[in-house]
Amino acid sequence: MSFTLKPGFLLGTATAATQIEGGDSDHNWNDWYRRGRIKDGTDPARSTDHYNRWREDADLMSALGLHVYRFGIEWARICPAPDRVDKTVIAHYREEICYLQEKGLKLLLTIHHFTNPMWFEEKGGFAKRENLKYFLDFTELVVRSFGDLVSEYITINEPNVYATNSFFLGHWPPGERSFTKALTVMANLAYCHIKAYELIHQIRQKMGYHDTKVSCAHHLRVFEPAKPRNLLHRIYAMLLDYFFQGLITQASFFGEFSWPLKAPAAVRRGEYVDFIGINYYTRSTVSRFDDGVRADAPKNDLGWEIYPEGLIRCAAKMYGLLKRPIYITENGTCDNTDAFRCRYLYDHLKVIAESDLPIERYYHWCFCDNFEWIEGESARFGLVHVDYESQQRTIKRAGKFFAALIQAGGVNQELYDEYVKEQKYHF
Ligand code: BGC
Repeated sequence: MSFTLKPGFLLGTATAATQIEGGDSDHNWNDWYRRGRIKDGTDPARSTDHYNRWREDADLMSALGLHVYRFGIEWARICPAPDRVDKTVIAHYREEICYLQEKGLKLLLTIHHFTNPMWFEEKGGFAKRENLKYFLDFTELVVRSFGDLVSEYITINEPNVYATNSFFLGHWPPGERSFTKALTVMANLAYCHIKAYELIHQIRQKMGYHDTKVSCAHHLRVFEPAKPRNLLHRIYAMLLDYFFQGLITQASFFGEFSWPLKAPAAVRRGEYVDFIGINYYTRSTVSRFDDGVRADAPKNDLGWEIYPEGLIRCAAKMYGLLKRPIYITENGTCDNTDAFRCRYLYDHLKVIAESDLPIERYYHWCFCDNFEWIEGESARFGLVHVDYESQQRTIKRAGKFFAALIQAGGVNQELYDEYVKEQKYHF
């Protein structure tokens, strides 16, 4: 039952600015809320009020003994207009970054995590080639503002999820439903990643730093044919894998844009990630050109299959493409009553500990409950419970388990018996 994490393995949590900060900056998610598109009607302007409570949250992270923290910054807050930079916001983030570092946390900064300023959205966002310069200007600003403090960056979070939800399924802003547009956005995001990768390295090098690490956080899943012997199911699984994650990883790792992706401008072939960033949540069981879940699978409160081995399958596939250290930049689950999160943590960390792959870090999604995009506040992913009315934070059982396993460097029999043994998944 027990396992030991590899020496030097780092654990922590990941988060995104829009999901925790609160505040009414002029961005596409505050707008989406005003359009009545959040399922439970909750307002991202409330969220966990982290923009005002960051010190308290940093103290709590440090009390849990986290080694690493992946966090975001809000583009719309920093640049309320294309030609405006709010210096007070930069000063705010600098203060927060310094405080987190004083607390001993190693930081990984995400530049783009699904949210756009409205001025960018109204110009057509990432769907238009002429807009990409705004993102690259923002990247430059970020590195000039924080590059003396932060050496590790994620350029873009989950380009495939963003392109799919915002431009193909229409669930997220701007709510479009076009396969070709989704592919254009994916290609543009891969291009942005590559240019941002180069920019970040160049700028920090000029600043005199040689420890820069840059990657992209890829949402990866296993696509499994519902019936392995059914040819059609197998073809759908292959197609989904190709369109959803194959194309984008190839483009962003190597600058290779395969059919039907087209690079918006010339890109040199190369290697554009310093580590492999993987956000892993689930497996899709496929019988048509769509997501699907096995009826007999353990599931979380959003109905996603819990499939720990999939994490290793995805990591092995990426490592087969490019030999780089692997960071699990997100992994976690919606468990509204914290009934099985300890088991979930245990199962996912165990497969990591037992794998031969060079997986070096694990960022749990999420530190505290937060604004879960169109699910709003009703889907809880945190190690820390948030009472949104009072904004009170309470460490959950899973948070205590996470802290204890970090301390122990793994899970021993005692921890297993105390936190995991009794927990069961539901089906
Ligand atoms: C995203 C997060 C999100 C999490 C859980 C990931 O796809 O990066 O922003 O909250 O999944 O749905």
